Amino acid sequence: MTTPPTWDTMYAPGAEPPPWDIGRPQPAVVRLVDRGVLSGELLDAGCGTGEHTLLAAAHGAQATGVDISPQAIARARDKAAAQGLPARFEVADALDLGRLGLAFDTVIDSGVFHVFDDQDRARYVTSLASVLKPGGQCYLICFSDRQPGDYGPRRVSQDELRAAFSDGWAVTSIEAETFEVNPGLPATTIQAWLATIRRIRLRDVVKHRSDRDCLHSRGSIARFRVRGRLATTARRRREAGPGAGEAPKGPGAVRAGKKRGGRPRYFPVPGPAAPVGL
Ligand SMILES: C[S@@+](CC[C@H](N)C(=O)[O-])C[C@H]1O[C@@H](n2cnc3c(N)ncnc32)[C@H](O)[C@@H]1O
Repeated sequence: MTTPPTWDTMYAPGAEPPPWDIGRPQPAVVRLVDRGVLSGELLDAGCGTGEHTLLAAAHGAQATGVDISPQAIARARDKAAAQGLPARFEVADALDLGRLGLAFDTVIDSGVFHVFDDQDRARYVTSLASVLKPGGQCYLICFSDRQPGDYGPRRVSQDELRAAFSDGWAVTSIEAETFEVNPGLPATTIQAWLATIRRIRLRDVVKHRSDRDCLHSRGSIARFRVRGRLATTARRRREAGPGAGEAPKGPGAVRAGKKRGGRPRYFPVPGPAAPVGL
């Protein structure tokens, strides 16, 4: 893994703080804490100097922050030590989170999704999927296409968010939010989207996809049909009365398949012989 100089130099000692590094958590993330959703094993992907990881840790989450910049992680660790918070920080590539060997209930992304080009965006989503538990929630805040001008990172539309998380995810909401940035840009409040995205479970797949598209559903339907046939057979046996399945009895006995071991099974049928269709 090589560290792109651009990110690491932005966090170098003595450098001007980058626009997003406002020395406190983003108000949008504070609002997530107020909703009580930043809990459990939590990953802050591309955590920068760790404000959001530390905020989550202070509110009881088992929080891990990762960033590709060693300088950012060093500063995050210093903050954790100064605040006495048990947050964990690692230098790691958000495009290859599976290497962490960890699984999370919650992921937060403040300002990371929008830094990737189309190719890396797809890799990032796959990478997130590799560490978020089924049913886990991802809270992603990115530059919105409602933000005028072309400074800063690329703008992201709601459609792009839904397309990026279309396979194996459920985008449950996309809300208008804001980023605060340091003075120096044309604006200090930036229009953003807050997307709430759930990593879906297999049973959600069965519920949401059409039966024709879903292999699992086809399997369920097949099992359902087999159970139906077995129930029909059992009912017919009950109706046939005691002795069913034994040796043929009388002229009306009807052959109904083979018992294990190869011996044919018979139902005694009262009266004239009748066809047995399962
Ligand atoms: C706009 S900053 C946001 C930082 C932090 N989330 C915040 O809100 O202050 C984007 C962050 O993503 C990190 N980053 C960029 N590419 C990354 C990658 N491939 N893996 C991990 N972190 C990455 C950068 O080092 C930077 O800290």
